[in-house]
Amino acid sequence: MNPPLHQRLCDDLGVRYPIVLAGMGGISAPRLVAAVAEAGAFGILGGLRLAPKTLREWIHATRGLTDRPFGVNLIPQFGGPEVFAAQLDVVIRERPRLLSLFYAEQHPEAIARAKDAGMLVMVQVGTARLARTALEQGADILVAQGSESGGHLNPGTIGLMALLPALLALAGERPLLAAGGITDRHDVHTAMAAGAAGVVVGTAFVATHESNAHDIFKQRIVEAGVDDTKYRTGYSFGWTFGTPHRVLPNRDRWNLLRFMGGGARVVDKPEVARKLSLYAGQGVGRVHGLMSAGQRVAELAAGLRPLEPQATGLPPEWAQTPFFPWP
Ligand SMILES: Cc1cc2nc3c(=O)[nH]c(=O)nc-3n(C[C@H](O)[C@H](O)[C@H](O)COP(=O)(O)O)c2cc1C
Repeated sequence: MNPPLHQRLCDDLGVRYPIVLAGMGGISAPRLVAAVAEAGAFGILGGLRLAPKTLREWIHATRGLTDRPFGVNLIPQFGGPEVFAAQLDVVIRERPRLLSLFYAEQHPEAIARAKDAGMLVMVQVGTARLARTALEQGADILVAQGSESGGHLNPGTIGLMALLPALLALAGERPLLAAGGITDRHDVHTAMAAGAAGVVVGTAFVATHESNAHDIFKQRIVEAGVDDTKYRTGYSFGWTFGTPHRVLPNRDRWNLLRFMGGGARVVDKPEVARKLSLYAGQGVGRVHGLMSAGQRVAELAAGLRPLEPQATGLPPEWAQTPFFPWP
């Protein structure tokens, strides 16, 4: 019998839990990625804002903090084709365990090159059409990005519970991860009970001590309720006008930056962090405080344990279920 998909995913990624930190540009920096990896989950560096030289430095810095595997996220749209090509060269040379791509349908060569270099490739999509393209192009792992998700969305029009089964039907033997609003153990259980091999988490990791987000950004996530995020298609820092994204809008009427989506980093000036609309998903209502990344991983992974049909007296076919929730 083939091992369950989550088990293969954990083996391939070299992790204990099928929990992945989203590569969030500027926010998923070496300290956060390493903390997530050390806690048994898989961290992805957010490469999109980085000059190629800085990307190399971030990869080296992460390796200086952990011996565990990690990935790098790239988005061609952000800096344009030349920057993307140079960033990809760095990634291929450095060979982290995984390349994560988003908005990269026009760059199938990136998938081919990374796979030739022996890396895994993960592609995030929000429709069945994009999933088919990613699978045809050779993606090893697919991420179903539900409309609940924070940050940029492609295109963010389908909720996770509708998207998951549609993409499961396409993914076959390839692991499918769930993204969008995943905040605690209950969400992980729900996504995996629906067939996901694991989860990708962004917003809940922004609100950790190790994240590279500005304190103002972290605090707004903690204070926000489930009604507070907005789906927008206007301006967002560095992206083509109109690219959909989900933010905590800025309510300050007298500043023009309030129309701009952004992910304020520690290095950004407080007045910028205070004025921007900040990327966040609909899970914000259940992020009640800051904690360490390790605690966040422990919370998400709580209750995950391999199913033991003999011990529980459950029917043997339940052994196919990725994990059984709680004792
Ligand atoms: C602050 C922030 C920045 C993000 N930046 C990126 C990015 O650079 N690349 C990417 O592929 N996805 C990015 N995303 C989207 C994530 O990949 C993922 O779809 C999303 O975080 C999942 O939803 P959640 O935030 O509700 O957990 C970002 C999300 C957030 C919240």
